[in-house]
Amino acid sequence: MRIFASNKLFFLGALARLVRCTADKCASFGAGLSIPDTKVIACSHEANGTVLPLPSTVASCGGPNLTAIITTDLCRVVLLVATSSSSEVQLEAWLPDPDAWNTRLLATGTGGIGGCIDYPTMQNGAGLGFASFGMNAGHNGSTGFDFFLNKPEVLNDFGYRSLHVEASVGRQVAEQYYASSSFKKYYAGCSTGGRQGFQNAHLYPDDFDGLLLGSPGVNWLRIVASKGILTHRIGWPNLDSPAYAAGPLDGVADGIIDEPTRHRFDPQTLACGTGLLNATLCLTPQQVSSVRTAYEPITDSGGHIVYPAFELGASTNVFSANQQNGTAKMSYTILQDFWRGAVYNDSTWTPENFSTADMDFALAANPGQVNAWDTDLSEFHGRGGKIISYHGRSDETVTSALSEWFYSDVQSNTNLTLEETRAFYRLFFIPGMHHCGGGPGAWSIGNAQKYPYDQSLLDPSHNTLLALIDWVENDKTPETLIGTKYQDDVRTVLILV
Ligand SMILES: *[C@@H]1O[C@H](CO)[C@@H](O)[C@H](O)[C@H]1NC(C)=O
Ligand SMILES: *[C@@H]1O[C@H](CO)[C@@H](O)[C@H](O)[C@H]1NC(C)=O
Ligand SMILES: *[C@@H]1O[C@H](CO)[C@@H](O)[C@H](O)[C@H]1NC(C)=O
Ligand SMILES: *[C@@H]1O[C@H](CO)[C@@H](O)[C@H](O)[C@H]1NC(C)=O
Ligand SMILES: *[C@@H]1O[C@H](CO)[C@@H](O)[C@H](O)[C@H]1NC(C)=O
Ligand SMILES: *[C@@H]1O[C@H](CO)[C@@H](O)[C@H](O)[C@H]1NC(C)=O
Ligand SMILES: *[C@@H]1O[C@H](CO)[C@@H](O)[C@H](O)[C@H]1NC(C)=O
Ligand SMILES: *[C@@H]1O[C@H](CO)[C@@H](O)[C@H](O)[C@H]1NC(C)=O
Repeated sequence: MRIFASNKLFFLGALARLVRCTADKCASFGAGLSIPDTKVIACSHEANGTVLPLPSTVASCGGPNLTAIITTDLCRVVLLVATSSSSEVQLEAWLPDPDAWNTRLLATGTGGIGGCIDYPTMQNGAGLGFASFGMNAGHNGSTGFDFFLNKPEVLNDFGYRSLHVEASVGRQVAEQYYASSSFKKYYAGCSTGGRQGFQNAHLYPDDFDGLLLGSPGVNWLRIVASKGILTHRIGWPNLDSPAYAAGPLDGVADGIIDEPTRHRFDPQTLACGTGLLNATLCLTPQQVSSVRTAYEPITDSGGHIVYPAFELGASTNVFSANQQNGTAKMSYTILQDFWRGAVYNDSTWTPENFSTADMDFALAANPGQVNAWDTDLSEFHGRGGKIISYHGRSDETVTSALSEWFYSDVQSNTNLTLEETRAFYRLFFIPGMHHCGGGPGAWSIGNAQKYPYDQSLLDPSHNTLLALIDWVENDKTPETLIGTKYQDDVRTVLILV
């Protein structure tokens, strides 16, 4: 369904003009920018190395003290695009000075429940010379539900529209700034950003030439629902239940398992009496049983498997560490937020009784078309688009088996042989990588989480974005990627969940 055709943005009336632009060489561009339904709310020329304050950022996006680092001399433009009479998408454009522009556009997505601009990826992109764009997916904030409650158009932005708006307005901004209309367009996103990219390839196949899609949150509603279902399988919210098994589970998941699908795990080996775990951590018979079910796939009300089992070696914290000071409370907040604001329209709903029926109800409603299992990519394939996707084998949030399911569904629904599929879509599994980055494996492949880019590894073998460019522009198919592991790998940026 293509509701939002490019160049036909919902028209609210007169073009809104410059609101606030400082008097520098970027200002006349901002003042003269004319794109339907789009108003410029700030613009300024920024010098390489500037630490940019972002004081209007909401707390759940890291504000008000959040800063971004300017990585090349650039013109920064902040825009608001009206997408209906009751919704708007905030965009941020970082336009390297023309002599430093690499003649490419890079758009970025969001994580989790949506509304935080991905500054780390923009920083890396601008430093490489890309005209780089960020968006808030139509709302501000990564926790909460008020932004969705009774706001179907805001849900449409989050679900399927905001990336297309970014692509469409971003292209026009770059065309006007550089007075050029022939440049390649790329997108890089992880988690929800991965979902946004796959969905965009299906709905708006002309937006991008290359997509870099990490740990994609396709089947998003079931990913979120799985946390509620799995935590119930281990006894939550009854913390006194003999089957409750949070502590032991937290203790067993670490280490690199290169190919988790080749290993089997029987929780019986962790039972009390085997000697493997001490008396504090070992599993009672009821706990052995609940841990077993935690590693089984999710089924719908009809008994069909709809979400694969967690990989062995992935941390189970997202569904097991669900208590605060002895009271049952899910640490994974997206389930409560989304079901409150978008699924049930009930600001008091809590997940203590979450069941398969709640998951199926959400799937049937599919607010904002957020679920996105759009596996017919024939138009994107037909125009020569390329996709590099990657997924950590120790992903604790989106189980990596989902990417396998998605890949084979794309192959069959796009009517391609495996060879034809591999000629436009590659999927790399990264042993020991957590969700989007981090973990005991050699996970750094130029993903956003390690800022700034390692200058010594700016080549297509080590940097996935450069590998994608080489594929799109030089027809060099990426056969392998080399991951890097840093001794002090601390995730220093906004966490995309
Ligand atoms: C922001 O910085 C100010 C000044 O350093 C500090 O007082 C305040 O606690 C900080 N706020 C947050 C949310 O970190
Ligand atoms: C920006 O400044 C950094 C630090 O001085 C430097 O390493 C980098 O090359 C500069 N970037 C550009 C595009 O000039
Ligand atoms: C998001 O925050 C920006 C300020 O940073 C504001 O201009 C915009 O209206 C906000 N968007 C929504 C949907 O509230
Ligand atoms: C049990 O083993 C864990 C993990 O090795 C350790 O942290 C804990 O102190 C041990 N408890 C006892 C009672 O020995
Ligand atoms: C848990 O208890 C500690 C110590 O009493 C307190 O500081 C903290 O705020 C409590 N946390 C929550 C979420 O209630
Ligand atoms: C959501 O609930 C409120 C309060 O009960 C009601 O006024 C509103 O119409 C409901 N909205 C939807 C979309 O169901
Ligand atoms: C869960 O279900 C039980 C039994 O029907 C009910 O007593 C309880 O109020 C429910 N809790 C929530 C949070 O809905
Ligand atoms: C794939 O092939 C089937 C059967 O020939 C056809 O019905 C379907 O439309 C094709 N799909 C695409 C995306 O070409």
